[in-house]
Amino acid sequence: MTEMTPVTDTNATAADAPKKMVLPDAQTVTEVKHWTDRLFSFRVTRPASLRFRSGEFVMIGLMGDPDPKTGKQKPLLRAYSIASPSWDEELEFYSIKVQDGPLTSKLQHIEPGDEIILRPKPVGTLVHDALLPGKRIWFFATGTGFAPFASLLREPQTYEDYDEVVITHTCREADELHYGAALVENLKTDELLNEVIGEGFWKKIKYYPTTTREESAKMGRITDLMRSGEAFADLGVAPINPETDRAMICGNLAFNLELKAMLEDWGLEEGANSDPKQYVVEKAFLD
Ligand code: A2P
Repeated sequence: MTEMTPVTDTNATAADAPKKMVLPDAQTVTEVKHWTDRLFSFRVTRPASLRFRSGEFVMIGLMGDPDPKTGKQKPLLRAYSIASPSWDEELEFYSIKVQDGPLTSKLQHIEPGDEIILRPKPVGTLVHDALLPGKRIWFFATGTGFAPFASLLREPQTYEDYDEVVITHTCREADELHYGAALVENLKTDELLNEVIGEGFWKKIKYYPTTTREESAKMGRITDLMRSGEAFADLGVAPINPETDRAMICGNLAFNLELKAMLEDWGLEEGANSDPKQYVVEKAFLD
């Protein structure tokens, strides 16, 4: 991380405190939605020059508190998956709120009109280019790991490349599923998406939300539900097969490792941008 000195208004006098800062790589917040007391999503303006592939992440953040001795402020940045698709005019993000988290304790208070820092250098492995052609794609998420799939579920290529799209989302509690559930439901009636991606594109989606610590329609970790065969039976699909199935994983570290091992056992190999194979994995952001 590089240290940045904020640009200050040179016409301002010392009496004008607090000084209005112009953030480096600033983008303006256009919308904020609080889903639970621990989860929120927000949209910001998109830099005209920013091109990215659906599923990639960027570094975003805010200025940290001034250093008590020098008064200098450093940007506080974290990796965030872009939750909006590559063709969207704005950028969307989905975030946890950690009360003592260095960034999200502040970020959770942003409002439309505020500025955030966004470094316009998208990267990431959860991209279609890292996978070989297949028939069915699995998006496996826990918690805020849903974010890159919120992008990919609105990406035309997902439906051009695959006959079936399975999105699984495992959370502790039922209300943590709301962002994903609303997104999947809204795909059906979104006129723009149906026009951009193709009328009725959403019929290819099988959505499989599960909770582990609160009663819901389906309880259990997706890993356990697949190991027992229950998830495949519920979804009405054949077990995962390296010939036909492709997968992207984004969740907490233990989940990523366990699922990676399961996929490897089933004969899938990890791909990369430079070497596409059957599955890819990325750690979800945690403050
Ligand atoms: P569990 O409640 O059984 O730990 P977290 O909020 O800790 O990031 O967890 C998000 C979800 O991911 C929780 O439902 C949690 O289940 C689940 N999870 C955690 N570790 C694993 C794992 N190794 N395999 C599958 N799911 C997991």
